[in-house]
Amino acid sequence: MQNHNHKLPQMMYGTAWKEDRTKELTLMAIKAGFKAIDTANQRKHYHEALVGEAVLQACQENLTTRENLFLQTKFTFLAGQDQRLPYDKNADTPTQVNQSFAKSLVHLNTDYLDSFVLHGPSTRYGLAQEDWDAWKTMTELYYAKKTKHLGISNVSADQLTLLLDKAEVKPDFVQNRCYARLGWDKEIRKICKVQNIVYQGFSLLTANIHELNQPIIHGMAQKYDCHIPQIVFRFAQQIGMLPLTGTSSYEHMLQDLACDRFDLSQEELLAIENLSA
Ligand SMILES: NC(=O)c1ccc[n+]([C@@H]2O[C@H](COP(=O)([O-])OP(=O)(O)OC[C@H]3O[C@@H](n4cnc5c(N)ncnc54)[C@H](OP(=O)(O)O)[C@@H]3O)[C@@H](O)[C@H]2O)c1
Repeated sequence: MQNHNHKLPQMMYGTAWKEDRTKELTLMAIKAGFKAIDTANQRKHYHEALVGEAVLQACQENLTTRENLFLQTKFTFLAGQDQRLPYDKNADTPTQVNQSFAKSLVHLNTDYLDSFVLHGPSTRYGLAQEDWDAWKTMTELYYAKKTKHLGISNVSADQLTLLLDKAEVKPDFVQNRCYARLGWDKEIRKICKVQNIVYQGFSLLTANIHELNQPIIHGMAQKYDCHIPQIVFRFAQQIGMLPLTGTSSYEHMLQDLACDRFDLSQEELLAIENLSA
């Protein structure tokens, strides 16, 4: 990572599953104070063009500037798409990556991305030729300064290790679903720490409903006079993660952003890390 850390916001707004409300909610998130936005050129789960409309309007209304926003989107293989494709389905992988990337720039009303993420390897185990081809094309976009960072999502420890062993340009981000029962993706986070990769965690609330309902968590929320989501997001930040929230509520946006108004103690962090132990 070429030390963009100082510029990296502490919390990212996720735009999945917002459909027709994508523009309104992304604009609301920018108004609430979010400076980092995650989307994907995958119409099945995201409406990237409406994210772009929100960004444009926010800039026009002087709520922010493009330079002050961190925009991240993804390339998604055919298997993860529905019929609304951002590329030619018969083209080879490099062409598909380039077509998807070019459409993302148009959707987002920008001429560069802050982060371009491979939405997930094409295969469950190991990395296939398509994955290497996609990564190489992403690398070329990085060298051409069209994206400031590269990332990979939905990746296993073995796949990440393989990529790190062989790739010319390493990912600066890993974006994964974060389960308390897996020690909050402990194995991957360990690799990320050593390699100076920022771990972006999603589904921190929805994947851990049972764990977060334990008395120890309720006790912490009481102690800090805050809400349980704030405990989880603060925990994530303090152990070095960049948490994502996709809340559709303005009140929750403000709450989630304000989680850094308190610090959990080392013992509390350890207790949350080991919630499932
Ligand atoms: N790379 C991938 O494959 C992938 C997969 C999934 C998600 N993502 C990214 O991650 C983002 C977040 O997704 P997610 O899976 O974490 O789920 P999410 O869409 O953020 O859902 C979070 C849930 O938590 C609730 N919530 C948030 N803050 C709250 C608060 N302060 N108090 C009470 N409830 C609160 C929300 O309800 P309210 O709306 O009522 O607040 C919502 O039901 C997505 O939008 C997307 O950008 C990436």
